[in-house]
Amino acid sequence: MTSQIPTQPATAAEYLPLAFGFALHQIGAAVSSLGILAAVAERPRTAEELIEVTGAHPRSLRRLLHAAVKAGLLALDGDGYRATAVAAHFGPLSDMHAAPPVWRAWEVLEESVRTGRSAFDIANGAPLFDHFKTDPKLAATFHAAMTGGSDVQSPAIVDHFDFSRFEHAVDVGGGRGTLLAAVLGANTGLRGTVFDTANGVVETAGVLAEAGLQSRCGITVGSFFEFVPAGGDVYLLKNILHDWNDEESVRILGNIREVLPEGGRVVVFSSVLSEGGADEDPADALGAAISDIEMLVMTTGRERTLAEYRALFEAAGLELTAATPLPCPYQYHALEAAPAAS
Ligand SMILES: C[S@@+](CC[C@H](N)C(=O)[O-])C[C@H]1O[C@@H](n2cnc3c(N)ncnc32)[C@H](O)[C@@H]1O
Repeated sequence: MTSQIPTQPATAAEYLPLAFGFALHQIGAAVSSLGILAAVAERPRTAEELIEVTGAHPRSLRRLLHAAVKAGLLALDGDGYRATAVAAHFGPLSDMHAAPPVWRAWEVLEESVRTGRSAFDIANGAPLFDHFKTDPKLAATFHAAMTGGSDVQSPAIVDHFDFSRFEHAVDVGGGRGTLLAAVLGANTGLRGTVFDTANGVVETAGVLAEAGLQSRCGITVGSFFEFVPAGGDVYLLKNILHDWNDEESVRILGNIREVLPEGGRVVVFSSVLSEGGADEDPADALGAAISDIEMLVMTTGRERTLAEYRALFEAAGLELTAATPLPCPYQYHALEAAPAAS
């Protein structure tokens, strides 16, 4: 049978990400783990300085620096290497993806697709968030990566979502508290609570203290499958429901619904998969699709369309009242829900 694969040559720009995405990732991961990103974050560095800082094999390090410039992670001005804007997104995320339990999970994507099971669970013998209980190093790397994402997403959320109408925001699965620190910083009349597991809040008190928010923001430890702290009039779920399947997501939303006052709101900050795809930005749409596969690899969850979010809210006694696109990568949105009219 003749092959149906077109024989005309694809350009390097077309095939490099697919054929060599793994190499680009490992180039960046080595730049991060060797301490090069940290060194150039302070000031531009010459190759000689970076050889000294890293203690690496000089010729091999020069080759790595060359590749990192071609990949767009570093820039070379004169003889000084500096970080590009990509580095802010890349560093903590790449440390997480290069961690052996995560890399092992991506190796069994095929099995995950065949069975529908989380690749992380298949590869490591426990679901991601359970694994953290026995692997504090990966937990810390993961939470640092989430903070990196929040550093990018929080300013857009603060600028485009009106928190001034609320009194007490509870960030459910709020991790280190980066989002809530930004929200409370910009809304001085608002109080807050960060709610997360024990390993999720290891650094949270420090983040809140650094922002001078100890008196306005508390921390509650627990599982959102068991309860959600009462007392809020707005409950935030940033990058939470995509970690969980529909049944688990409805349990989380249901526990919020139980403590949500009349007039209260639930706000989901998340990528939203587009349904038609007509006017989508190709890079953002690819990012959202990759994020969806990452959820298959790492969790029981997935990215969802607006209709799928609406159905989740409905199943938990809530009603989607607004969907606002945010100027963040990956078709990011604020989805606001209110108690459904009974
Ligand atoms: C993908 S991270 C998102 C963190 C943060 N909202 C952000 O956007 O950066 C998921 C968060 O859910 C927390 N989490 C996982 N299982 C939880 C549970 N059962 N109860 C409360 N939080 C949980 C994790 O510790 C982690 O902080």
